[in-house]
Amino acid sequence: MTCYSRITGTGSYLPPNRLTNAQLATQLAARGVETSDEWIVARTGIEARHFAAPDVTSSDLGVEAARRAIEAAGLQAADIDLIIVATSTPDMVFPSVACILQHKLGIAGCPAFDLQAVCSGFVYALTVADAMIKSGAATRALVVGSEVFSRILDFSDRTTCVLFGDGAGAVVLEASQEPGILASDLHADGRHVGILCVPGHVSGGQVVGSPLLTMDGQAVFKLAVGVLENAARATLAKASLTEADIDWLIPHQANLRIMRSTAKKLKLPLEKLIVTVDQHGNTSAASIPLALDEAVRSGKVKKGDIVMLEGVGGGFTWGAVLLRY
Ligand code: UT7
Repeated sequence: MTCYSRITGTGSYLPPNRLTNAQLATQLAARGVETSDEWIVARTGIEARHFAAPDVTSSDLGVEAARRAIEAAGLQAADIDLIIVATSTPDMVFPSVACILQHKLGIAGCPAFDLQAVCSGFVYALTVADAMIKSGAATRALVVGSEVFSRILDFSDRTTCVLFGDGAGAVVLEASQEPGILASDLHADGRHVGILCVPGHVSGGQVVGSPLLTMDGQAVFKLAVGVLENAARATLAKASLTEADIDWLIPHQANLRIMRSTAKKLKLPLEKLIVTVDQHGNTSAASIPLALDEAVRSGKVKKGDIVMLEGVGGGFTWGAVLLRY
């Protein structure tokens, strides 16, 4: 009998410190950086974001999201036999957030590793977990997106520091006789490494180069609107479905203008677009599982619905996963 993988539980976690645009603008003004609620809302749709306390790490946020997803799936942590964490803001250079998170869950033995595809990390991780389940290498995978982007923001650069937030989302993906993940489509183009990066690295006991995020926003914007439409169409074709079959579109939550443009190109009414960027900002690899969990818990996404997940970000990377929830 064909083996599929299916999401059986979702969870998410946001650190308690919520900062509205106005509060952030006041803090930035004290450093001589000028911005406004009006500019941020008009250009991005972001109204607020959450920032983790200085001693809180990606594994701290991720383990809370993971516990909620495992509980929602009706499982115990000991049932998990694969952990993949998508993150660009790991607790340390090594070992992986996944290993630290595994220990925090109180389990040991199953494979655990991080996956680095920046804001596309969650769709990449979900695709890898799906392939491992279909190959028989795993039966109950925990797939987490967790980030503390506040750590790598340059608060003297208003073009980036107003855009990002911290948070985590997780799903449990189980082997199943019913689908499940229907198709996925992943891509990368390393020619665009420089348009969104944290160029610094550790060498000789020091950080060499800038450890802060830098982005050519307009270049990222232009690439994003093109590739998201293509990835969605490719995924639909692989699953022999059409735009009309999509119940919910959950794109990476970076900019409401990009998200609406994708929905429009796919001829989807805006009611089918799940939006959390307004309240979370851009949480990179965490943004899709955070939005999925909110959509499930609010009763929007129901069992049997066709959901299109789409990621895009640094690398340049992009991709889509089409699933029946
Ligand atoms: O997560 C990975 C994916 N990332 C993305 O998808 C991000 C993609 N890019 C974007 O979302 C948009 O390009 C931004 C939101 C980053 C910028 O929006 P934009 O409409 O492309 O603005 P812009 O860069 O063209 O800047 C317009 C103006 C500039 O002023 P001048 O040169 O026209 O006088 C900027 O200096 O807005 C100014 N500006 C700001 N003003 C107030 C830039 N940042 C700010 C700010 N507050 N925070």
